[in-house]
Amino acid sequence: MTDFADTPVAELSETQARGELARLATLLAQANAAYHTEDAPEITDAEYDAAKRRNSEIEARFPALKRADSPSEQVGAAPAEGFAKVRHRVRMLSLSNAFDDDDIRDFDRQVRAFLGMSGDNPLAYTAEPKIDGLSLSLRYENGTLIEAATRGDGAEGENVTANARTIEDVPQTLTGAPEVLEVRGEVYMSHDDFARLNESQSEKGGKTFANPRNAAAGSLRQLDSRITAARPLRFFAYSWGELSEPFAETQMQAIERLAALGFSTNPLTRLVTTPDEMLAHYHAIEEMRATLGYDIDGVVYKVDDLALQGRMGFRSTTPRWAIAHKFPAELAWTRLEAIDIQVGRTGALSPVGRLTPVTVGGVVVSNATLHNEDYIAGRDSKGEEIRGGKDIRIGDWVQVYRAGDVIPKVADVDLDKRPDDAAPYVFPDTCPECGSAAIREEGDAVRRCTGGMICPAQAVEKLKHFVSRAAFDIEGLGSKQVEAFYHDETLPIREPADIFTFARRDGEALAKLKNRDGWGEKSATNLFAAIDERRHIPLNRVIFALGIRHVGENSANLLARHYGDWPTFEAAMTEATPEGGAAWEELLSIDGVGETMATSLVTTFHQEAERASIDRLVAELDIAAVEAPQSAGSPVAGKTVVFTGTLEKMTRAEAKARAESLGAKVSGSVSAKTDLVVAGPGAGSKAKKAEELGVEIVDEDGWLELIAGA
Ligand code: IVH
Repeated sequence: MTDFADTPVAELSETQARGELARLATLLAQANAAYHTEDAPEITDAEYDAAKRRNSEIEARFPALKRADSPSEQVGAAPAEGFAKVRHRVRMLSLSNAFDDDDIRDFDRQVRAFLGMSGDNPLAYTAEPKIDGLSLSLRYENGTLIEAATRGDGAEGENVTANARTIEDVPQTLTGAPEVLEVRGEVYMSHDDFARLNESQSEKGGKTFANPRNAAAGSLRQLDSRITAARPLRFFAYSWGELSEPFAETQMQAIERLAALGFSTNPLTRLVTTPDEMLAHYHAIEEMRATLGYDIDGVVYKVDDLALQGRMGFRSTTPRWAIAHKFPAELAWTRLEAIDIQVGRTGALSPVGRLTPVTVGGVVVSNATLHNEDYIAGRDSKGEEIRGGKDIRIGDWVQVYRAGDVIPKVADVDLDKRPDDAAPYVFPDTCPECGSAAIREEGDAVRRCTGGMICPAQAVEKLKHFVSRAAFDIEGLGSKQVEAFYHDETLPIREPADIFTFARRDGEALAKLKNRDGWGEKSATNLFAAIDERRHIPLNRVIFALGIRHVGENSANLLARHYGDWPTFEAAMTEATPEGGAAWEELLSIDGVGETMATSLVTTFHQEAERASIDRLVAELDIAAVEAPQSAGSPVAGKTVVFTGTLEKMTRAEAKARAESLGAKVSGSVSAKTDLVVAGPGAGSKAKKAEELGVEIVDEDGWLELIAGA
């Protein structure tokens, strides 16, 4: 570091300027990385802007000193040079969560129900701590570590091989491993190491971390692996991805084998066989939590028998055979200083509490959600009490809690400490952003701005959603950039289609953009290339990106798989109306689509302005049809199957999961579009209707024969 950070630009010598440019390049690159990964905010926006300005001023005075990695050439928040992407050969999943004893008993019941097992059959689970770190996948080929990747979005992560190699717990070579072995587990930092790291960081005037998890994430995701090497990271192995041959018969054996290969595995892993035993181990681990020396945030239970795991399979992002039992949330009391109203992409007015900063479970919290106006009033629309009927007022002493990564919430209010002059909060009935009326529909707890496309807040939030990771995920075009472009008079991006019209490189946009502060020829060209690359995009991403209320990532996947391509999807949405008819029935027949979502979809497509905006977008795109997973070679791929009557060899849930994993669509009702009906004993009207329509009918054995070997 130089000592010239405060020297005015006009007084810098050439040598000093060179040092300053180097310092600013590092500072801004780190700030970008921190912003991009959200591991921790490094510097304030104002500091960031000041650093960028100073950099530009020095460059203007000493053009010859401009660095190859000059921050003024970089696009917004994207790191100077990101990590290469790695496509996971086997998806990296997350876990569904349980919060209390009943959830665990339900989980056991559901597992048994799925497998058709009565409560008396023995069924073993592993129970182990849920490590609060970040997951890492290590690929070994012929016993040699060849690649390490973060989870990313589960399908694609970042290549952090050089960094992973610096972790002591990660073996470089293995003896006696399958030819291909992907070991998965958690990277974490111990409490002691975390404290030492923060101490030395603050001595150096470097960045300190909010908690061990952020420190671990920030350390693993360093572009310079020498930095990672200097950080005390550890790794627990608990799972695996691709394997060239079966690895073990049970989860427990797999863990033992990983330990024998040289991995650290968690010593608190136990076999349990009943919900009572699961809960006993949970409480035992909870008791030890404070003395473990590393952060855990719950206990994970997994069906021990790997053959049963295989039968149960996955939902879209979580296995059916495992669950995370989270520890109760952390709490703290603080003052509510103000209530701000944020307007979301669907127009929802969300009250956000501004708090006197307080540490909750190691993280400083200064904002917390207040949910909606009923929550603040302490009564729901039917007059029923919420939180004992206590309303929340500005100036109140409030209890804040956070569980895991979720947004902190205001949980309670202390009426004894209420200031005398605190007045009940009056929730606005107009949109604070555009002034349109904000109304509540019958049965809806949320008040919404009616401004639609004219509301700048809704438009900006829609754009942010559009470029988010599970949607268009355009490199160099994140929330910050779309917001800036939205407000830009010369180069406005007001709706998704504008992103693509704007990026026609032969236009004047490039010329305008590259002369913009913070942009140059290279960064502008890169941005346009990144946008162009996204013109070709899978259907599920497009559906999700539209930001239709109630249509999340999973639902978008379901819809894309059902309709297959854009023209079919669009035609169906245009044709369907909530009044009924074949298209509407078909939409509702998709497992996971209910009336609320269907209405929201259809309303959006029938709303003139919305529809025109969608059409303008689609005209810019080349939307890839979605193929059913693992469908290659499957005899039922793309077929619509209906199960009816009693199945004797497996439960309905298992039959459905299996059919879907083979690329079939499982529907609840028979129509002319049904390809196959699997009818067990007791099949009634559905089998009859299939007969009338001439749809093929098989019994359970016929079905099993059909899919045997698939
Ligand atoms: S198993 C297919 N076991 O928790 C199952 N995950 O909330 C994959 N995690 O993404 C996960 N400790 O990063 C498993 N003992 C443990 C874990 C664990 C921590 C993390 C993991 C996962 C996340 C899901």
